[in-house]
Amino acid sequence: MPEAVLERAADEMLDWHGSGMGVMEMSHRGKEFGEIYRKAEADFRTLLAVPSHFRILFMQGGGLGENAIVPLNLSQGGEVDFVISGSWSAKSHKEAQRYCQPRIAASNADSQHTTLPPPSQWRLGNRPAYVHVCSNETIHGVEFQELPDLKALGSDAPLVIDFSSHVASRPVDWHRVGLAFGGAQKNLGPAGLTIVVVRDDLLDRALDICPSAFNYKTVADNGSMYNTPPTWGIYVAGLTFEWLLGQSEAGLTGIAAMEHRNRAKASLLYDFIDRSDFYENKVAPDCRSRMNVPFFLRDEGRNEAFLAGAREAGLLQLKGHKSVGGMRASIYNAMPLEGVQALVAYMREFERSQA
Ligand SMILES: Cc1ncc(COP(=O)(O)O)c(C=O)c1O
Repeated sequence: MPEAVLERAADEMLDWHGSGMGVMEMSHRGKEFGEIYRKAEADFRTLLAVPSHFRILFMQGGGLGENAIVPLNLSQGGEVDFVISGSWSAKSHKEAQRYCQPRIAASNADSQHTTLPPPSQWRLGNRPAYVHVCSNETIHGVEFQELPDLKALGSDAPLVIDFSSHVASRPVDWHRVGLAFGGAQKNLGPAGLTIVVVRDDLLDRALDICPSAFNYKTVADNGSMYNTPPTWGIYVAGLTFEWLLGQSEAGLTGIAAMEHRNRAKASLLYDFIDRSDFYENKVAPDCRSRMNVPFFLRDEGRNEAFLAGAREAGLLQLKGHKSVGGMRASIYNAMPLEGVQALVAYMREFERSQA
């Protein structure tokens, strides 16, 4: 979380704008929360240049909830294509089996999820209800540098992207997207809020068994207030949207500034790792994530010492996911360049100390 956002939330915690209430104490249907909600939605639309024929839904259930909610709403029980690029897309594919007939159009399992099969090699079905990709694989550190253009592959199917772990780190090419979903907890705010951006024409296709609170049309028709939305999450995400809109760098503002900063942060770390004989990143350079950088010490016997020293240096949460091992630096939007510089300085010093 950006410190400025946390400070603002702390300042407003007991009394939001002189209303005599904290945000958690407001009715979600009251005037005050209505203001917070409308501003958050409008700012998100501006920030990511979401076109007017897409609806922005503030939901609950997280990324894994959407693994069920998307097929319930879009699959009509038919065939759906999945591109497996790491753990999260694999989970999405598995969950979809309960609701539709998922196929695997492409997979990078053979490379232990360190490459991305080029779209030209995907084997799409005849008429899939949609094509699902995870545009940033948080655990394996694999990111689509560019979203696939299904039309160029001769397919009219809507593209569904799970952008949970890189939302708002770069612009979204909405021409290529039918639906995007993501939990807010990486780049936008506290856990508990899920953002869904869905094209109008995909709203009204839900299976009868779809719970009403998760039916996109019901949620959209009720301005995300069919049931009580995650009000605190929406409020803090709204503060983050304001913070993002106010960012500037190299003559750029908003998301373009963030993208510029995120590229600089990621290159600093990858370049350092690539030049080193002590550390290693196994992901192919053309699909390396700018948000999640998994890396290994070539001598894994030094892992514990590395992590202990990192903790002492104030560098936290560097242990890799248990399914991959090694280390992982998650350098989300709120991590400043100085944070990555501190990590690289520590890595250099640790290597020197082990000589
Ligand atoms: C890309 C991606 N998708 C889905 C999820 C699952 O999200 P949640 O825990 O909000 O259900 C995560 C969580 O880390 C993720 O990184």
